[in-house]
Amino acid sequence: MYKINDNYLKLPGSYLFSTIGKKVRAYKEANPDKDVISLGIGDVTLPLAPVVISAMHEAVDEMSKAETFKGYAPDLGYEFLRQAIATHDYKARGVDIAIDEIFISDGAKSDSGNIGDIFSVDNKIAVCDPVYPVYVDTNAMAGRTGDYIREAGEWSNVIYMPCTAETNFAPELPNKEPDIIYLCFPNNPTGSTITKDELQKWVDYALKIGAVIIYDAAYEAYISEENVPHTIYECEGAKACAIELRSFSKNAGFTGTRLGFTVIPKELKSGEVTLNSLWARRHGTKFNGAPYIIQRAGAAIYTDEGKMQTAKQVAYYMNNAKIIRDSLKEAGYSVSGGVNAPYIWLKTPKNMTSWEFFDLLLEKANVVGTPGSGFGPSGEGYFRLTAFGSYENTLKALEKIKAL
Ligand SMILES: Cc1ncc(COP(=O)(O)O)c(C=O)c1O
Repeated sequence: MYKINDNYLKLPGSYLFSTIGKKVRAYKEANPDKDVISLGIGDVTLPLAPVVISAMHEAVDEMSKAETFKGYAPDLGYEFLRQAIATHDYKARGVDIAIDEIFISDGAKSDSGNIGDIFSVDNKIAVCDPVYPVYVDTNAMAGRTGDYIREAGEWSNVIYMPCTAETNFAPELPNKEPDIIYLCFPNNPTGSTITKDELQKWVDYALKIGAVIIYDAAYEAYISEENVPHTIYECEGAKACAIELRSFSKNAGFTGTRLGFTVIPKELKSGEVTLNSLWARRHGTKFNGAPYIIQRAGAAIYTDEGKMQTAKQVAYYMNNAKIIRDSLKEAGYSVSGGVNAPYIWLKTPKNMTSWEFFDLLLEKANVVGTPGSGFGPSGEGYFRLTAFGSYENTLKALEKIKAL
């Protein structure tokens, strides 16, 4: 008789975005004349850049001829892409990453979930609160998080690091010792960042206690301030304690196209075993590569034209972020994020709960956002708006919010 992985049964039901979807559908059905604007889900809206599209077209043509046809991709990804990443994402920032320390994938969501495969179930994880839910849920599926305590909205075997207004929405070093520390900067959902000196403290801490940091830098392209690190490897010693996750989703609009990568330096070791070798084994066994056409498209963003075109897209979204920030401040809201990230994190007015504010915004302003409490207990009383909408919709939405 087979047995299921009953860790899945411990997961709390009703995923945040499906609850939002249900509420929005019900409101639209009851109010078909209303124009509802979504600044909720973190998905991009601009089309792929012209360089990306032409690279894809060329790659499709290559697939049509026997001489240039490509089958399975190499395990780690095509060298042309890994070389471009090593040169432009790392070498250009003074960081040496070898191309066999880069693993091409279909995105940061899969990598952030799958990376747990190479760690023992006995490890204790530490996460920010609020947090991108994938880190916690995938550890729960693996049986690493203990039991879910419904009243607290927390797992019994997870170290939560509250990120509140008092801490500038950054985590503080935990007082219990974790084995695996998940950090994400620029942050989803709070839009916060930390300086290089602050990140160095995490690296020093991880090295001291023998922990590994899983550093999600999916929003790296949105960094606008000088002292914010673009990669954790700018910090001294990080190669011996950190894995970095990257995505092409938010810097180049690949949310539907799918491409990402993970960096595991060979200095990162458990005793004599490199984590690089474990991930290489896992990658080679369970993953058959991102499509050639998509890897070609990804490489195109590292050309001069590609850099220009994708920077323009990021600037478009960041202009939306500025509109959201400025308008909310004008209306008296207390606001953070939106400077180095496409997310704006606001305090709900009049001590409303996150979901109360969600309902108010939907019904009175016809705007959809994301309740902060959906990202963890410390998100209660907060609300996330995203800058990924169109300029016109962002303006319209903010006019309506200001008029509340
Ligand atoms: C922090 C963070 N990491 C990873 C992802 C997923 O990235 P990808 O589209 O590459 O899977 C997201 C998507 O919203 C995210 O917010």
